[in-house]
Amino acid sequence: MPAALLAMALLTAARPGPRIEVQGHRGARALRPENTLPAFEYALSVGADMLELDVVVTKDDQVVVMHDPYLNPVLCTGPDGAPVPEGLAVRSLTLEALQRYDCGALKNPRFPRQVPVPGTRVPTLEAVLDLVKASPHPAAKKVGFNIELKLEPAHPELFPTPERFAELVVGLLGRRGVLNRVVIQSFDYRALVAVKALAPKARLAMLISDTFPNPVAIAKDLGAAIISPHHEWITKEAVRALHAEGVRVVPWTANDEAAWARLVDLGVDGIITDDPAALIAYLQGRKLRSTQ
Ligand code: G3P
Ligand code: CA
Repeated sequence: MPAALLAMALLTAARPGPRIEVQGHRGARALRPENTLPAFEYALSVGADMLELDVVVTKDDQVVVMHDPYLNPVLCTGPDGAPVPEGLAVRSLTLEALQRYDCGALKNPRFPRQVPVPGTRVPTLEAVLDLVKASPHPAAKKVGFNIELKLEPAHPELFPTPERFAELVVGLLGRRGVLNRVVIQSFDYRALVAVKALAPKARLAMLISDTFPNPVAIAKDLGAAIISPHHEWITKEAVRALHAEGVRVVPWTANDEAAWARLVDLGVDGIITDDPAALIAYLQGRKLRSTQ
């Protein structure tokens, strides 16, 4: 083979594909209590590109980082170490009352490698922004925030209206000057429409669960930059069709090498995982991510 052709072939072989974004789900749920400052700190320490987190709202309209609208008795304990009663709604508590609970002392039985961090409180969204701002980890300089607005249309008593929720979250992100580092995600279409009305340039991710409707139509209708499907439901055809429209595909929540291999093969743009360190190592092992 002529030298010039050989050089070109080597260059092509060595060139990595587009970087696959690594998102730490609820920070890094496999290793630290979910949606807590220790989880986000861990995700930054291992070099995650994006922190995935969920938000709900307290009685006094504080945006807090938590997956469920209720305090989860499997994850949290009461102020005196007592079990949390079933059905204690975050929306019924002020921030001050909510932060009397410890959501770091119990180990989530689904994640055997999770390290409990007793004394950990439910953080505000603002506290997560503060953590990142003050973090010495190199990843913190450009890490993004994938913020999920949790809403259940059948239970309006547990949440603000979508419009008020959007106002609270967009207002905070705008004041903090981080809207350009953020993706707003939701399973609730109304929430994304409300965010778009307030922040037309905000990047939106429509979450899709078990069923798989026409994702291209959804993305176009909403003007969503990203479609985030359940990782088992996404297909190569859907990825191709979304990419043809310039829409990124970021599935959730894939936690093992078989699932990562499938998603890499499908050509997804990012992967949401409970174990960002393991996913980064996997991508590095396949020369799909630099080791620096
Ligand atoms: O980012 C999407 C994913 O987090 C949705 O599932 O239930 O873990 O919030 P869930
Ligand atoms: Ca989520």
